[in-house]
Amino acid sequence: MQVKPFEAAIFDLDGVIVDTAKFHYQAWKRLAEELGFAFSEKENEQLKGVSRMESLDLLLRAGGITNLTAKRKETLASRKNEWYKEYLTTLTPADVLPGVRSFLHHLRSSGIKTAIASASKNAPLILDKVNIGSWLDVVVDGNSIVKAKPDPEVFLQAARLLGVAPFVCYVFEDAAAGVEGAIRAGMRVVGVGEEQLLARAHLTVTSFEQLEPVFLLSRIGVSDLGVTGDSPYEQ
Ligand code: BG6
Ligand code: MG
Repeated sequence: MQVKPFEAAIFDLDGVIVDTAKFHYQAWKRLAEELGFAFSEKENEQLKGVSRMESLDLLLRAGGITNLTAKRKETLASRKNEWYKEYLTTLTPADVLPGVRSFLHHLRSSGIKTAIASASKNAPLILDKVNIGSWLDVVVDGNSIVKAKPDPEVFLQAARLLGVAPFVCYVFEDAAAGVEGAIRAGMRVVGVGEEQLLARAHLTVTSFEQLEPVFLLSRIGVSDLGVTGDSPYEQ
């Protein structure tokens, strides 16, 4: 089977590059408690990768709350965002997840392009705080996309700005919605997290430290991952 080249790496941000997924959860949980219901980490899985307003809808559904006005929903979403930003004030470059910096370094020195594809409107703030902007060629975030994951828009926009075809991209994602979006974009996906939650990913790892030797000791190693896929682009 023909091996597709690997020319670009597209990263989700929250929970992949930096450990901010936990702050999103803490803020949603706090909102749920204020509204009078408990919200588990398991329930939170479906909010990952999803836009702020869609996440709120999922949260309200989990709490059996219906019929809120659009204005009330806006208020709740901004309250959550204020808490979230409060938690982000503690963020420093040390919060970049293990192995990420080194992985980015190796990718860039191998000539592989790099991008962020995130649903978050806070992405610029986070990238600034953790100081990894210089490792990235392109950033696409919640400020520039219309359709949230699992729509492929954010990934396709990243590939377009990088000037590469989708089938030469690897996406790194911790959210089921993101894995789905990347597959719909015709890209290969590495799930970062628990295999059973990211079952549609072509490969799952728990950390970039685990991934680096396989990916980078040999670029040919990509074929050994068995990720040759069924992209409509490969003929
Ligand atoms: C994604 C997170 O990266 O961004 C979601 O996984 C979050 O949990 C979404 O809801 C939107 O983020 P923000 O920062 O714009 O509220
Ligand atoms: Mg994420």
